Amino acid sequence: MCTSRCLWYLSLVAALLIIVACGSKQQPATTELPEPYAGYCTLMKQRCSRCHEMERIEGYRAPTPQAWDFLVFRMKHHRGSGISFDDAENIVQCLVYRDFGDEGLKALGESK
Ligand code: HEC
Repeated sequence: MCTSRCLWYLSLVAALLIIVACGSKQQPATTELPEPYAGYCTLMKQRCSRCHEMERIEGYRAPTPQAWDFLVFRMKHHRGSGISFDDAENIVQCLVYRDFGDEGLKALGESK
């Protein structure tokens, strides 16, 4: 017989399983992207890891391609970021392609 305490534990385990299952259903890792995006992502890791743990950026999902563009340029403007204009353009391509694919890059091109 399962007591209410035991039921509580069971539902906790179930909730954890759901969290783990959802966590593994992530977007492709930046290392699995085709060129030139994989190269841009290598650059992203070099530039962005200066101030952040990579997990923070790998785990962050911008809601729209424009939001990535905005965010990367905001990071570029942080003092001592070491991110040039070209770096920022390329880093945006890496992140937008990772999260939104070709469609995302097109949407970004049209919005400029
Ligand atoms: C010079 C240090 C520096 C560099 C380099 C840098 N960041 Fe940041 N980042 C910050 C600071 C400071 C904050 C918090 C203030 C802010 O949000 O502007 C932040 C915040 C963030 C956040 C959280 C934003 C939010 O709205 O919650 C993300 C995501 C992020 N950075 C991604 C990046 C990415 C991607 C790069 C590479 C293009 C990068 N950062 C490079 C300093 C940096």
